[in-house]
This record gives sequence, structure tokens and C-alpha cells, in this order.
Amino acid sequence: MTKVANRLKSEQMYHCLKQVIPAGVNSPVRSFPGLQMTPLVVESAFADTLVDIDGNHYIDYCLSWGALICGHAHPKIVEAVTKRVALGTSYGCTTPIEEKLARKVTECIPSIEKVRFVSSGTEACMSAVRLARGATKRRIVIKFQGGYHGHSDSFLVQAGSGVTGLNGTSTSSGVPKEYFQWTACLPYNDIEAFEQFISDPQISEDLACVIIEPIATNMGLVAANKSFLECLRRRCTELGALLLFDEVVSGFRVGIGGAQALYGITADLTCLGKIVGGGFPAACFGGKKEIMDLLAPLGSVYQAGTLSGNPVAMEAGVQMLSLLQSGKGTFYAELEKKTKSLTDPIQKYLLEHDLNICLQRVGSCFTLFFGVKKVTCAADALKCDTARFGDFFRYLFARGIYIPPSQFEICTVSSVHTEEHLQRTKEVCLEYLQMG
Ligand SMILES: Cc1ncc(COP(=O)(O)O)c(C=O)c1O
Repeated sequence: MTKVANRLKSEQMYHCLKQVIPAGVNSPVRSFPGLQMTPLVVESAFADTLVDIDGNHYIDYCLSWGALICGHAHPKIVEAVTKRVALGTSYGCTTPIEEKLARKVTECIPSIEKVRFVSSGTEACMSAVRLARGATKRRIVIKFQGGYHGHSDSFLVQAGSGVTGLNGTSTSSGVPKEYFQWTACLPYNDIEAFEQFISDPQISEDLACVIIEPIATNMGLVAANKSFLECLRRRCTELGALLLFDEVVSGFRVGIGGAQALYGITADLTCLGKIVGGGFPAACFGGKKEIMDLLAPLGSVYQAGTLSGNPVAMEAGVQMLSLLQSGKGTFYAELEKKTKSLTDPIQKYLLEHDLNICLQRVGSCFTLFFGVKKVTCAADALKCDTARFGDFFRYLFARGIYIPPSQFEICTVSSVHTEEHLQRTKEVCLEYLQMG
């Protein structure tokens, strides 16, 4: 892996991109906000490596934001998808390949008896919440600070100043307060704040669902405390509300059964994305038959999509899940071993030198947080030293290592990361930390 020397073509192309696309990107964080550098302009990718348009190679720990757990352009997925494309790319009719992927999803995640496919995680979460409201005939949705469930209007809310709960403010302009007035935003991992909020009968009797990333991945990697999830599970059942796990990232990432299998907690509705689409635009939401059958046309909760269940994306998803199920169930153990070979020495170094930096990891996902010793909620994450993160990011990038360009994202490792690349990454990280 060579040093990144020349990025002239990338700079020129980014200039052109900015002329016709806002900030030159189709999703904000791709522009490397706050990092004062030209973002990555990609030409191609293979296995664990991204290649930019200048020909520079980068070991990739972003992996299309966690989607590519088996790496880029996996031959099995490429071959199957290529065959599928020749059969037509979209029919707007139901197909056997949808049954195949749906069957796999229900096999892997037992709380999902029926599933609907959509094209993005945003759509999955938005539709699941509509279904929860339709099923309970209630209005209030609780989410947690630092959780991200896509960019639909009612999720773009942060807690009101000094108050937890309703009366928050939007994190985006263009969202009238009426659109998020029934979304409460509470602190993550805080049982007391949750109990206090639902102690008001006007709230608890109108509570449709609690939506949570059981392993939070959008404030850096922060796992929920088991007692917190158990409390949410118990209280949702008692109050007649639904517990909705957003496993768009954690699903098929932390284990074949997602975070719910890891914690042994059953969600009423689950959202999946990223990995389930095998690198194509597919996501889904699912749960018990009785709830799912409330969707149109059987029920009155409307949800639809021209490209939903797209055959090419379904084929990629089937191949991806087959890869995860192969190898006599050793896939996740091996992936974790790989990840630990990178993260354990870093963690050891941090402990030995008592630095104000911590590394949090679950399975093959991790975040190195600068300026803090532990992160359990969004308030902790906000204390991070983002300037120091930027410095770290640029150090790695210049040496051909690409991690997500924000302190509040997660690094992921794939099954095809080579030993050599993992060792090289470990060395560069330690080298950076040793500089103080
Ligand atoms: C936990 C979580 N939920 C939902 C989404 C939205 O998914 P998409 O970007 O596919 O709309 C994301 C996106 O990163 C996510 O991390």
C-alpha cells in the first residue's frame, strides 16, 4: 500500500461535480464535512480496497457505510447479479427471488414472520413507524438522541433545550413542527429519563412505539446496556406499544440474528438495510404476521414502491445472506477475530498509556473516540475532540487507509480484509497515537 501522492484528477472532478450537484455529493457526509480536504472520488473497488480516479489505493473501513460485509465486488454476488440483469432489471410484478430473500430473512431473524422490501433504510424506518401507529392507533413515537433512522420528516428531531421528550426542535429546515410534534427524543441508555417520560398517562396511553438502534452506530459505536433494552421491552409490552429495532446497520453485521439475537430481546418490528441488499438499494421491515398484514392491500396502512423488491437487488441480497450462512457458522467468529487483530493492540496501547481516547467495539464494528474515555450516550459523544479526529483521519488517508470521514460513524471490517492490510492499519494507528 503506497502513500497517496497525487489527487489532481480528484480535485478537478470534485470541482466539476460541485457545479451540478450540491456540494458535489448525493449524501452530505461524502463531502468530508469539516475535514478541509477534497473528498474521495472513486473509480472502482475490489475486496477490501477502494481506488480513486487518480489511481490511489485505500484500505476501506467504510465499506459503503457497513453494507459490504463480504467486501467490494464479491465474485459470487457479481456473477449472480450479472446473470440476473440479463433477465430484465425491473418488472413491477412479484417474483420468486423476493420469496427466496424473504424466506432467508425470516429464517435468520425469528421475530420477523413477514417482511416487506423497500429501497432504503429511510423508507424502512418511515414505513415501520407508520405501521406501528396504524396498528396501535396511537400517535407518539419515542426515539433516542444520537440515533439515526433515516431522513424522513418525523425523525429529524432533537430534544428540546433542557427538557427531554416532546417539544423538540428539528435538525433540518423545511420540516414544520406539526410533522415531528409526536416524536419524543430521549437520552440513550437512560432508564430514569425514559421511565419519567412515560409516567405521564397522556403520554403512555398515546405511545405507538419506541424506535431504537440496539447498537447505536450514528454517534460512533455505542452499545445499549442490556438492562436498558430490557426495560424498553418490558414497558412497551405493558403499555401496549410496539418495540421497533432499527437494525439497518447491526442486522447481519453483529451476527446472523442481528443485535436482537445478541441481547436475547425480541423486537415487535425490525428494520434492516445495507447488508440485506448485498450492495444494492434494498432494505426491509418485518415482524409478526398479524402486524405486517395490516399493510395495504390487506390492511389500511399504505406503503408502496416502484422498485421495491427489485429482482437484481434481491439476487444480491440472497447471495450475500448465503455467504454469511456458509462456512459452518464460523463466518462471524472469523470476522471478529480479524477485527480484534486490529483493535486489541490499539485498545491495549490506550489502556497502558492512559490516553483520553477510547476504542469501542462490537463484533466487526468499532469507533476510536478522541477526547473521551467512554461514550454511552449522545451527550458523551458530543464531548469528543472532532479536530483531533480530523487530524487522525487525514493521517490515515494520506497513508492509503480510509475510515468513515466523521467521528460519529463506525469503522467496519469485511471478511476479505487481508491480514497484511489489517496489520498495516494497526501499525499506522499506533504510529499516530505514539506521536501524542
Ligand atoms: C441505523 C440507520 N437507520 C436508517 C438509516 C437510513 O438508511 P438509508 O441511508 O439507506 O436511507 C441509516 C443510514 O445510515 C442508519 O444508519
